[in-house]
Amino acid sequence: MRLLVIGASRGIGLEVVRQALQQQHQVTACARRIGRMEDCQGALTVNRADILDFFSVQRLMPGQDAVVICIGALPSFDKVRCFSEGTRNVIDAMHAAHVKRLLVVTGIGAGDSRGHGGWLYDRLFHPFVLGTIYKDKDRQEYLVRRSNLDWTIIRPGFLTHGPRTGQYRVLTDLDGIRCGKIARADVAHFILQELNGPGYRHQAPLICY
Ligand SMILES: NC(=O)c1ccc[n+]([C@@H]2O[C@H](COP(=O)([O-])OP(=O)(O)OC[C@H]3O[C@@H](n4cnc5c(N)ncnc54)[C@H](OP(=O)(O)O)[C@@H]3O)[C@@H](O)[C@H]2O)c1
Repeated sequence: MRLLVIGASRGIGLEVVRQALQQQHQVTACARRIGRMEDCQGALTVNRADILDFFSVQRLMPGQDAVVICIGALPSFDKVRCFSEGTRNVIDAMHAAHVKRLLVVTGIGAGDSRGHGGWLYDRLFHPFVLGTIYKDKDRQEYLVRRSNLDWTIIRPGFLTHGPRTGQYRVLTDLDGIRCGKIARADVAHFILQELNGPGYRHQAPLICY
C-alpha cells in the first residue's frame, strides 16, 4: 500500500512510518521540519510539507492509497486552526487525486468523547489548557465525517512513549468509560491494523489500555 503520513517527524506519526515500513508499505512521510529519517529502513520518501499549505499537500497526493493525519499543536490562547484548515486541505487534495482512505488522529475529549477523561482532565486540563485545540479538533472531526471519504477517526487516550504491546481497548460505546493511557506505538499499531482491513470505517473509536 502507498501511504502518506502527515505529521511524521515524531510521536504517533513517526511510529506509523516505522511500523508501515516494517510491513513493506511504501511510505511518504511529511512534516514542516523533517530530516532524512536515516534510521527508518524501507520504501520511504521524505518531504517537507505544511498541512496549511494546500499546494504542498496536493503535490504529495497522486498515487497514494491512504492518508494518515497525525499532526499536533502546542496549547495556545489564540484560535487554533491547523487541525480543521489542514484537514480541509487534505480532504480537497484527496478528492482531486481520487484517494479514498483517510485516518485522522484527534484525541480523548474530541466530539462525544468529551467527559470521559477523568475529573482533572475534564474539568481543568481540557477546558483551560487544551480548550482552543479541542475546539479545532471538533471542527476537524466534523469535516472528516462529512467528507464522503472512507474515514476513521482515532481518539487516543493519554499518550505515553511505552512499547508496542498490541493489547489495548478499542471503544465506540463510551457509556461509563473513563479513559486511560495508551502508548504512541500502540496507536500506530491500531492505525496499521485499520489500514490492512478497516474494522472501524466511519467510526471514531477511543483507544486506551
Ligand atoms: N499528549 C497526549 O496525551 C494526547 C492524547 C490524545 C491525543 N493527542 C494528540 O495526538 C496527536 C499526536 O501527538 P504526538 O504527541 O504523537 O505528536 P506531536 O509530538 O504533537 O507531533 C506532531 C507532528 O505533526 C507535525 N506537524 C505539526 N504541525 C504541522 C503542520 N502544520 N504541517 C505538517 N506537519 C505538522 C510535527 O512536525 P513539524 O512541527 O516539524 O511540522 C510532528 O511531526 C496530536 O494531535 C495530539 O493532540 C495527544
